[in-house]
Amino acid sequence: MDIEISTVATTPFDDQRPGTSGLRKATKVFQQPHYLENFVQCILDSLPQKAGARLVLGGDGRFHNREAIQTIIRMAAANGLAELIIGQGGILSTPAASHLIRKNATDGGIILSASHNPGGPDGDFGIKFNTPNGGPAPEKITEAIYAATKTLSAYRIAATDPIDLDRIGETTLGGLTVRVIDAVDDYAELMQTLFDFDLIRDYLGDGRRMVFDAMHAVTGPYARRIFEGLLGCPEGTVWNGEPLPDFGGGHPDPNLAHAKKLVETMYAEDGPFFGAASDGDGDRNMILGHRFFVTPSDSLAVLAANATIAPGYRDGIAGVARSMPTSAAADRVAEKLGVDCYETPTGWKFFGNLLDAGRITLCGEESFGTGSDHVREKDGLWAVLFWLNLLAAKRKPVAEILREHWQTYGRNVYARHDYEEVDSDGARALMDDLGARLPAMAGTRLGGRTVAYADDFAYTDPVDGSVSEHQGLRIGFEDGSRIVFRLSGTGTSGATLRVYLEQFTDDPADYERDAHALLEPIASLAAEVAKIEHYTGRDTPSVIT
Ligand code: G1P
Ligand code: ZN
Repeated sequence: MDIEISTVATTPFDDQRPGTSGLRKATKVFQQPHYLENFVQCILDSLPQKAGARLVLGGDGRFHNREAIQTIIRMAAANGLAELIIGQGGILSTPAASHLIRKNATDGGIILSASHNPGGPDGDFGIKFNTPNGGPAPEKITEAIYAATKTLSAYRIAATDPIDLDRIGETTLGGLTVRVIDAVDDYAELMQTLFDFDLIRDYLGDGRRMVFDAMHAVTGPYARRIFEGLLGCPEGTVWNGEPLPDFGGGHPDPNLAHAKKLVETMYAEDGPFFGAASDGDGDRNMILGHRFFVTPSDSLAVLAANATIAPGYRDGIAGVARSMPTSAAADRVAEKLGVDCYETPTGWKFFGNLLDAGRITLCGEESFGTGSDHVREKDGLWAVLFWLNLLAAKRKPVAEILREHWQTYGRNVYARHDYEEVDSDGARALMDDLGARLPAMAGTRLGGRTVAYADDFAYTDPVDGSVSEHQGLRIGFEDGSRIVFRLSGTGTSGATLRVYLEQFTDDPADYERDAHALLEPIASLAAEVAKIEHYTGRDTPSVIT
């Protein structure tokens, strides 16, 4: 059908710089006239070849998802794009979107999500551009998009009726083909090429009970198809499997603080042998055994050490990467395997080049993110399936797998303390003050430990040589313990100070001890060195994971 295109005059917004993971703001900010349109126009203008471009489009189903998708469709039509591939109902998990971009060799994709941030009219919304490799756009591109937002004077949009997002099929709008596809099919197919579904099905069929908490977010439909469908788990295995615009009022972040009921269930005497959860857009994961929490840092290390049990990784791994604040547990495995281990800044976008260059196969972050070269995003359900494949292959409980791992490699005891929504100026002053004191710290004694190094982390990408500075303040001690301070790049109000604590031990008595008790001395040291109470007015963190 012919379409009527208009050019709408607009003025720039001064706050459209993408953060750790795309542009993330309060939903109300996105609902302002022109706010989304301006940013989308700048994304489209950043495409090397806008006319005839093909994009994947979908979101995590949060409030405003459908409206935003209709707007983007109308803008794509007006900007001369050739095709949009959209998940049914406007739904696509972030890893599924990444896979579709790669599989269909599109010019990239637009993902609507604020990940684990709460949704709804008073929650958050977000938009992220992924490049043709399926991964989040690197800083070079997000900075170019940001620069464009500062001078934008008009955007193009077509006047068309809304597309029926619930009906699978094709519609043409001028030169644009809008293809609504099943959101789960391609992803479920990919998972079956990576993991031994027969083995997992048999293992689970032996009366073992697992639970998966989809947290009323995007993974519900994926998890139901995979666990209750393909793997034959009983109905009810997937909790909160209906994606809701406000995530049922919850905070869709799979961690010990926000997946409370799951944690309680797993710690009950007759609890399931395996429990897991994923976040708003399906890229994060939390792994639990019966009465056992696997830290994401350990999870990456265990998967790296055992990768060859899974069909997709049978030939071994090329290397691993972890974000700087993630514990060094994976480094120990890489060393033993004789493969490279890379330490990158926080954020998945830094893994893209390493994955594309074939330097790494697995990568992960302490923030409940784990993934591999199968897509260019972290992948929650992939991690859960990897763990199930491992459990089915080893026929041992999660806790035993971890104890054996520590016996081989030692234990990197780990925790993160978050001070959320603190005053931005205070948080900035804390970082400036501490940063200024770091250069003089190496070689000095702090809290009975000798400082081996103290610096402001900078990263040079080994593939394209790009440099990213100011990626977190680190204090490393000679005994292998470490404290890292960073300000969050995903928050939408005030600042969030993250304090990452790590301590290495190879004393088997410590393998039975609680991480938080073990870390108590360096936690106090961190608070003292950075003067956290002085600068934030807080004497305890708001979230400990
Ligand atoms: C947080 C996590 C980071 C992750 C990002 C997106 O970013 O710390 O590891 O990549 O969310 O999921 P931050 O708020 O710390 O900038
Ligand atoms: Zn996420």
